[in-house]
Amino acid sequence: MKTLFSGVQPSGIPTIGNYIGAYKQFVELQDQYDSYFCIVDQHAITVPQDRLKLRENTRKLAAIYLASGLDPEKITLFIQSEVSAHAKAAWMLQCISYIGELERMTQFKDKARKQNQRDGISVGLLTYPPLMAGDILLYNADVVPVGDDQTQHIEYTRNVAERFNAKYNDIFTLPQIKLPEVGGRIMSLNDPTKKMSKSDDNQKSFITLLDDPNQAAKKIRSAVTDSDTVIKYDKENKPGISNLLSIYSSLTDKKVSDLEQQYEGLSYGEFKKDLGEVVKEFLIEFQDKYNYYLNSDKLDEILDEGRDKASFKADKMIEKMERALGLGRKRK
Ligand code: TYM
Repeated sequence: MKTLFSGVQPSGIPTIGNYIGAYKQFVELQDQYDSYFCIVDQHAITVPQDRLKLRENTRKLAAIYLASGLDPEKITLFIQSEVSAHAKAAWMLQCISYIGELERMTQFKDKARKQNQRDGISVGLLTYPPLMAGDILLYNADVVPVGDDQTQHIEYTRNVAERFNAKYNDIFTLPQIKLPEVGGRIMSLNDPTKKMSKSDDNQKSFITLLDDPNQAAKKIRSAVTDSDTVIKYDKENKPGISNLLSIYSSLTDKKVSDLEQQYEGLSYGEFKKDLGEVVKEFLIEFQDKYNYYLNSDKLDEILDEGRDKASFKADKMIEKMERALGLGRKRK
């Protein structure tokens, strides 16, 4: 069986963009792969976090993973900082990465711009990609399901793996990115030229998975649309309605072309009212499952088991990496 790896940061509550770009794919793929899902708390501290909030969000994120429909019997779910191999791998990969290639990452440039105005830029923000590459390479992942904002990070992962394989020892599998068919980049509700993000200052621009369902429907009804009135997918010229069509299609599994037909001749208002209801129903069902897992003793058991299983596999790869680099003593 091939291996899958993906991660989400506990830097806030995930949005419906995260759900569509990431979790929905995870659930669809869990039967086909030996799947590892990680709560990447070490990535989250590349920007300042409140320690109590971070712990709270880490736990919430575990319940969110499971509420999405992942089956704890089939998958391995764990917290990054509880598997020490990740930090070790990150260090070794940093030592074969170049400052130039890390400075060119668009996510580094975006986040550094924002951070610079507040607290200065941490070194961790620059070395975020080697940590992420380590996450993936430690498990010999064949596929990495993500939203399209992670494309550059996966390309870097492949590059650094190839470099390591060529320079030291051929130990890493080169991972393939897996983007969702619809919704690889869900956009902000009030500015559809920008990605939907949980760190946006404008609360109306995103819907989190734990938002009040009625408020969420309201956010959809007041989402920015385009100047004409035709409900048609055209990302370039009609980014607002195209984004809402992607959300609708993904949450109902209806094709965009079928939705265009269904809403032919109807107004944006009617479309948004219906989509508001779709989102509301989705959240009610999601939050039911979320509350079950959050309040269940099972959550810690699942995370303990996940930590042990992930550590077992990751430590073997650390041994291979250390041997390739000549670290430590020779083992028999
Ligand atoms: P993060 O935590 O920002 O986002 C988690 C996942 O959600 C996707 N995503 C979106 N998809 C569609 N539309 C959006 N508006 C949207 N916003 C976010 C992201 O692409 C991602 O799949 N660096 C990663 C976390 C990470 C990781 C890894 C991922 C760390 N190590 C190893 C895969 C493999 C990140 O910051 O995701």
